[in-house]
Amino acid sequence: MAAVPNPRIEPPLNGDSLQMLRSAVADFDYEQLLWSSGYLAGLAKAGAVAVPQPAAAAGADRWVVFYATETGNSRRVAESLAARAGEAGVAVELQDLREYRPKALAKVTNALFVVATHGIGEAPDGTEAFFEFWLGERAPRLEQLSYSILALGDSSYADFCAMGQILDDRLRALGANPVVDRVDCDLDYETPAKSWASSVVDHAVENAATPVSAVRAPHLRAVESRLIHTRENPFPAEILLDQPITGRGSSKDVRHIELSLESSGLTYLPGDSLGIVPQNPPQLVEALLDALALDGADEVTVEGKSLALSAALTANKEITIVSRPLLEKVAAHHDDLQPVLADRSRLTEFFHTRQVIDLFADWPVAWSAQELVDSLRRLTPRLYSIASSPDANPDEAHLTVALVNYEQFGRSHWGSASTFLTSGSGEVPVFIEPNDRFRLPADGDTPIVMIGAGTGVAPYRAFVEHRREHGHKGDNWLIFGERNFASDFLYQLEWLRYRKDGTLTHMDVAFSRDQQEKIYVQHRLREKARRLYEWLERGAHVYVCGDAERMAGDVHRALLGAVEEHGGLSSERAAEYVNELKAARRYQRDVY
Ligand SMILES: Cc1cc2nc3c(=O)[nH]c(=O)nc-3n(C[C@H](O)[C@H](O)[C@H](O)COP(=O)(O)OP(=O)(O)OC[C@H]3O[C@@H](n4cnc5c(N)ncnc54)[C@H](O)[C@@H]3O)c2cc1C
Ligand SMILES: NC(=O)c1ccc[n+]([C@@H]2O[C@H](COP(=O)([O-])OP(=O)(O)OC[C@H]3O[C@@H](n4cnc5c(N)ncnc54)[C@H](OP(=O)(O)O)[C@@H]3O)[C@@H](O)[C@H]2O)c1
Ligand SMILES: Cc1cc2nc3c(=O)[nH]c(=O)nc-3n(C[C@H](O)[C@H](O)[C@H](O)COP(=O)(O)O)c2cc1C
Repeated sequence: MAAVPNPRIEPPLNGDSLQMLRSAVADFDYEQLLWSSGYLAGLAKAGAVAVPQPAAAAGADRWVVFYATETGNSRRVAESLAARAGEAGVAVELQDLREYRPKALAKVTNALFVVATHGIGEAPDGTEAFFEFWLGERAPRLEQLSYSILALGDSSYADFCAMGQILDDRLRALGANPVVDRVDCDLDYETPAKSWASSVVDHAVENAATPVSAVRAPHLRAVESRLIHTRENPFPAEILLDQPITGRGSSKDVRHIELSLESSGLTYLPGDSLGIVPQNPPQLVEALLDALALDGADEVTVEGKSLALSAALTANKEITIVSRPLLEKVAAHHDDLQPVLADRSRLTEFFHTRQVIDLFADWPVAWSAQELVDSLRRLTPRLYSIASSPDANPDEAHLTVALVNYEQFGRSHWGSASTFLTSGSGEVPVFIEPNDRFRLPADGDTPIVMIGAGTGVAPYRAFVEHRREHGHKGDNWLIFGERNFASDFLYQLEWLRYRKDGTLTHMDVAFSRDQQEKIYVQHRLREKARRLYEWLERGAHVYVCGDAERMAGDVHRALLGAVEEHGGLSSERAAEYVNELKAARRYQRDVY
């Protein structure tokens, strides 16, 4: 008998909209919930929409706000841009590039793009078809199109904001008309995003063929005002448990962390991440002050507020990851850093291995306290895949955290958030980052294949726990990779229990350092390629989680190989097969 689809999975709302709704009704009792459901149905019938629209939207004045996102930032920026444009009386339509038929752009006259870069200078997962089409030879001219681009990225990657730049170059080459210059944003994107939004909305208002007048968005405001805990206003979650899950002798320190979400109003689904707003380790702040010969008590100004330098370095500024602007500033005093900036692979290597402390210790500068804080990026939250099912663990969220703490270049290094989470602080500020790109199938009978290396196993703990909790009967196959069997088999006892009670129908492991040659998850996939293809033909959903730089690409190639070999397909057809899996949301990745 087919299981009844679980309505908590794959909800029609996505991202923050779902989170807003959940937060808004978190404290409602049964009667209030019933009344609200009728009220919302009434709004739906009356045609109420989240983005306020002017009464008559002339076609030529209509703007489409496209976004290409993987971790939600571009969507959030696009949503707030759309709301702002709507309030200014500009007719807008929000469009996720993953859901968009690429050719349809040929008919659009006004477009705003908010585009993130992921992987190694690549498009966000699921948006490849759009970029392939418009970067391809068959792309038509776009002379009718007026556009502007906000590119989101991270300047600690060599290919900073690559996708925004590539799109901009291509649209220009196809004859489109850039109305406001592209803005490239680093991780602290809020301020430049707001000023870009002002410019594009002003442009739309000034150039509207039909004069526009501002409209109000009362119901949207009503929901927003009830939204309690977000990345701007995180919830102080109590740390209930911090337990090492790597054994003695392990080359890494991975923790299972349990956090209380009690009375927060925060809810989540398996596949979501938890955002942590960290504070930097005090020992690192001290080391940095020493390296720069600065006094932590010195007063500095950060975003208009005056505070002590040590406080700014603890809570406001990024002092672990090196950004490109910081490296450029230091390189202005050290010629030997110039070749690093000029060479993509040396730059990538530098960003991978060197932290801020290495930069200042090995390439000293004589900066004042204020010069230092002005040169550092704002400290940004870190995301962690949630490792628990909310239904099996009400009011809790569990994480699997690899501690960043290592010795290199003759000094100690710490990661900001992983150290904060494991420092015994008692509480950490958290928010939920919804991830609708990584969801269990709606039908509990559907088989799933979960491929994860290292901490990439975290969301699978949530998936399996959730399916078990709901009595879902679909087959569950886990392929897990880590360094050593004896010390790094994360959640070994739980998996063995699930194997025994039949929840986990199949399990394969790849321990890379237990033998001379490396064995990784993709080797197991290749060995089990026939089964993988059979499962795909049975409608299985495939998930990949963990390292983005190497593992995700290798697993992708193994998947293509399995389809080619056992489906008897050419490499082109196998690629189409896998693209179709993606489009059907049967191949989902959460990689970092
Ligand atoms: C969607 C998503 C989900 C994630 N889920 C998880 C998860 O479930 N579990 C998890 O542990 N992480 C997860 N991460 C990664 C996590 O967000 C952090 O990036 C990670 O914990 C490091 O953060 P940190 O603040 O401790 O270190 P940072 O302060 O960010 O320092 C990291 C920097 O240190 C350097 N570095 C780190 N390790 C080494 C090393 N061994 N040798 C040399 N240099 C090094 C690198 O320069 C690196 O950029 C996820 C990321 C994303 C985007
Ligand atoms: N220098 C750094 O910045 C640094 C260092 C460590 C981790 N990280 C990142 O931190 C995140 C979490 O790391 P983690 O500790 O959970 O796990 P991880 O470092 O990704 O390692 C997990 C397992 O994956 C293996 N692996 C390495 N290359 C692989 C590949 N191409 N395909 C498949 N498996 C591969 C590792 O083997 P081997 O290690 O034996 O090769 C190990 O057995 C990842 O994004 C990782 O890239 C960064
Ligand atoms: C795995 C991973 C890879 C990334 N690669 C790049 C990159 O190559 N270039 C870049 O500028 N930013 C890169 N970024 C940073 C993102 O573009 C940045 O976090 C952005 O704000 C994400 O936007 P989104 O939340 O809309 O996906 C990467 C981020 C992650 C997690």
